[in-house]
Amino acid sequence: MARQQNNKWTVEQRYRRIEDISDSQKSEMIRNRGLDAGYPNYHIAPAFGLLNDPNGLCYFNGEHHVFYQWTPVGPVHGMKYWYHLSTPDFIHFTDHGIAIHPDQYFDSHGAYSGGAIVEDDKALLFYTGNQRDENWNRIPTQCYATLDKSGVLEKKGIIVENSAYTEHFRDPKVWKQGDDYFMVVGAQTQNLKGAMVLYHSQNLTDWVHKGPIHTSYNDFGYMWECPDFFELDGQAVMLFSPQGVSTSTSYDLKNIFSVTYLIGDRLNLDSMELEGEQSIQQPDYGFDFYAPQTYVDELGRRIMYAWVGLPDIDTPSVKHEWAGMLTLPRELHVQDGFLVQKVVEEITALRNEGIALKGDFELPSKSFCLTIDANVKDFSIELSNRLGEKITFTGSDTEFTLDRSKMSELYAEEYGLVRKAPRLLASTQQIEMYIDQSVIEIFINDGKHTMTSRFFIHELSSIKVSSTTEAGSFKPTYYSMKSITGLGQP
Ligand code: FRU
Repeated sequence: MARQQNNKWTVEQRYRRIEDISDSQKSEMIRNRGLDAGYPNYHIAPAFGLLNDPNGLCYFNGEHHVFYQWTPVGPVHGMKYWYHLSTPDFIHFTDHGIAIHPDQYFDSHGAYSGGAIVEDDKALLFYTGNQRDENWNRIPTQCYATLDKSGVLEKKGIIVENSAYTEHFRDPKVWKQGDDYFMVVGAQTQNLKGAMVLYHSQNLTDWVHKGPIHTSYNDFGYMWECPDFFELDGQAVMLFSPQGVSTSTSYDLKNIFSVTYLIGDRLNLDSMELEGEQSIQQPDYGFDFYAPQTYVDELGRRIMYAWVGLPDIDTPSVKHEWAGMLTLPRELHVQDGFLVQKVVEEITALRNEGIALKGDFELPSKSFCLTIDANVKDFSIELSNRLGEKITFTGSDTEFTLDRSKMSELYAEEYGLVRKAPRLLASTQQIEMYIDQSVIEIFINDGKHTMTSRFFIHELSSIKVSSTTEAGSFKPTYYSMKSITGLGQP
């Protein structure tokens, strides 16, 4: 299994730096990755090595800037860098290469995740300096660096030390409110519970620790990673990736680690309470979705990217020397008590002409989009190869099911091979599926939920769509998708 393959890596090997790998090793990894038919065409993925969380998302200098966690030495979690891309339109990218190197004592074992704000013609990149001492104890600090318009990065050093939490204290996300700056950090409290903790500053240098935000979920897992807090459509939203949570229902919290959000009326900065809190929800019901982060662009849109992957799970692509990709950028809104997600408008420009589907269809391209007008109780979409290896996405009147038990390559079986989501709108809804070689993003319940997953089918060749419901209408349309450009050429 892929998982065992990666066990061959020693700690020393994983913590090698980019300078420790030769140009010929890099070329060999790129060559090997080029042999992988599962490498995406319109999703952000690394040229080689491992991508995890999206970082530092911001709109700056006329472009969207996307950074991600990157381990260059191989498809494994090890020494982390911030890799940097920018784009005016989510289609044409500039590949800037590495932005943050772990080259100081305070980030000697990785420049870990964080967010960005834009101020005075600079992007301010907040991140966790992951330091290990000689006994391998972790010393996390929150740091920042500035990036100017000409691309010069300047590290400003540590701004927040860990005064109250265990060694799990990371992933700063900062925002500005009036003249004040606020930072949330993902933390583990001394009684080993996950928390989103708040800091306040008036000058970006001196930060006051205000403590955990109070919600009714103060005993919900042992660590909350990648916290995000924002206001949207008049509501306050806490979005985070809790570890150590599960349920016995068929839908919720099925992955090794999860992503959840809490909507409230507002965050009371005196009492530290999320007022008017609603029950916790899950944005995505697929197999591979983690560490989402959001930002606001020049049009005022709140946009989210997430990692299509999970910690501690190796995908079969590791044999091709790469792992991990980002979701498509998704615009968010709060509607009817849900965080609603929709692929940003710009991505429709990647669609070629639509073809109405019926029955079996030979796939001209494995990078495509499917829109389905589903005014039926039940339907089934099957993606398969000539051997009958497949994944299926089905809808009944009460639920959606994504089944990857019959793929050519199985992995993470211990977490199950089927994922289910409730069908909130009994019949009519528009479903969108974005499929790109080995990734599928499904938008259901009018964007109130998604199902995001990797899948591994050798020589995927056809799609079959069907519905047994006579009444109603079922209209799937296929669009092959053009590729995004500019990646992999720093
Ligand atoms: C989430 C995470 C973060 C951390 C980063 C390290 O996937 O574990 O908490 O900052 O990855 O790469």
